[in-house]
Amino acid sequence: MILTFYGHSCFSVDTGAGILLFDPFIRYNELAAHIDLADISADYILLSHGHQDHVADAVELAKQTGAKVICAFELMDWLNKQGVSDVHPMNTGGRASFGFGSVKCVVAQHSSVLPDGTYGANPMGFVVNTPGGDFYYAGDTALTLDMQLIPRWGKIAFAVLPIGDNFTMDATDAAQAAEWCGTSKVVGVHYDTFGYIKINKEEAKKPFEEKGIALHLPAIGETVEL
Ligand code: NI
Ligand code: MN
Repeated sequence: MILTFYGHSCFSVDTGAGILLFDPFIRYNELAAHIDLADISADYILLSHGHQDHVADAVELAKQTGAKVICAFELMDWLNKQGVSDVHPMNTGGRASFGFGSVKCVVAQHSSVLPDGTYGANPMGFVVNTPGGDFYYAGDTALTLDMQLIPRWGKIAFAVLPIGDNFTMDATDAAQAAEWCGTSKVVGVHYDTFGYIKINKEEAKKPFEEKGIALHLPAIGETVEL
């Protein structure tokens, strides 16, 4: 699978049967100023929760790409009101099938509200199952024992986990999360974007190295094969 990192928690995965774009937050991210929205393609856009740093460019990109948006039920109305009608609503615990495979929504321990104050529903993570492999995107979350359930729902080739601390897990907790998911490859996200989540990247690698897990920290705009 081919992953492209667009900064903060925004990335796309080309599964070979469709391009999935997660948590688009690009134009408000100073670190992603070199990314041109017009260059981004997607068949599906998945939103983990309603916070601005995960949905800021969702409407624009849904309209530009014609992608179907997969998100919590309560975000559907907010998207519909802005002219995005191709939305598949889900909730924690549910699985649904799409052209590329399936998505199971899993628990994320966090909070959620939309940028205009609208109720943002429960935050979620996603286990994505495709013929080319399975992966897990945790969304914004604390380390939670629920992550021990992840291997029941997929053979996780790689996990995309927040490592920035303050609002989510730090690298030490993320390394534990990776072990519980049963994966040996992690892409770290949700760090360095704001002052609160600036990290020492060399230090972040250590807890992963101790567990024999590879931590990938792609540059913004970089594509990696996983
Ligand atoms: Ni958040
Ligand atoms: Mn966030």
